[in-house]
Amino acid sequence: MAGSSWAAHGRLERHSLLLLIAIIVVVSIGGLIEIVPLFYLENTIEPVRGMRPYTPLELEGRDIYIREGCYLCHSQMIRPLRDEVERYGHYSLAAESMYDHPFQWGSERQGPDLARVGGKYSDGWHRDHLADPRSVVPESVMPPYRFLAEKDLDYHDVAQKMRTLRTVGVPYTDDMIANAVTDLRDQDNAFAGGAGLHARYGRNVNVRNFAGDPERITEMDALIAYLQMLGTLVDFSTYKADAPANQR
Ligand code: HEC
Repeated sequence: MAGSSWAAHGRLERHSLLLLIAIIVVVSIGGLIEIVPLFYLENTIEPVRGMRPYTPLELEGRDIYIREGCYLCHSQMIRPLRDEVERYGHYSLAAESMYDHPFQWGSERQGPDLARVGGKYSDGWHRDHLADPRSVVPESVMPPYRFLAEKDLDYHDVAQKMRTLRTVGVPYTDDMIANAVTDLRDQDNAFAGGAGLHARYGRNVNVRNFAGDPERITEMDALIAYLQMLGTLVDFSTYKADAPANQR
């Protein structure tokens, strides 16, 4: 018995076409087992309470984050490993990136993961850190982005950006798009109250002068608004990973 199976295997290994066919058969079994179940799922992302589309100001901040290449040094994806969870907090959920087009998971960590940096520092700390990282973290190798505080934010096309994102599945409503510019200005205004913003985006929207200058809306304002929101949308004090989908 052992002898004949050895002979069969010998023939297979010496016959390149036979070997190729055998490899294709074996690999496709593995592939099918991985892929077929996905066809039977309605959605591969489990819904989680708290997720909302970015506000217009946060969206502009995200675009600056992308423009400046922050993702080249920072990931936004906390892996379910003990050292990461102890350092950064709850591991990232797929739902937390569901409105990111493109997603910002990154593949490089020159600096820390930023998936939960929201609320970790004050706006003033971010202001100082972005303007001159070594003024607050002496050993930092992060480049300075002082010019962001000097450049007025160009948001003339924010409503178009939201409309575009809607075509790829981000649930911006007509009301959100119609009020994009007002909402953007209100979010950076400590005196605006933010009633419209809260009605449209929910209660967990930060409303204040992020970069400190009440007279202007700068790129720094948008970037800090974005950073201060990261990782704060899902409330992990009530989140239960094993609860039914509609109660998570
Ligand atoms: C060349 C790599 C590099 C780039 C590019 C870079 N950073 Fe950093 N960043 C770092 C390093 C290293 C640290 C850790 C030291 C420090 O805090 O400055 C850091 C720290 C941070 C922190 C503090 C994180 C924490 O939890 O303490 C924030 C926030 C941050 N960066 C935001 C940004 C933003 C926003 C951009 C783009 C405008 C950016 N970084 C671009 C390397 C980089």
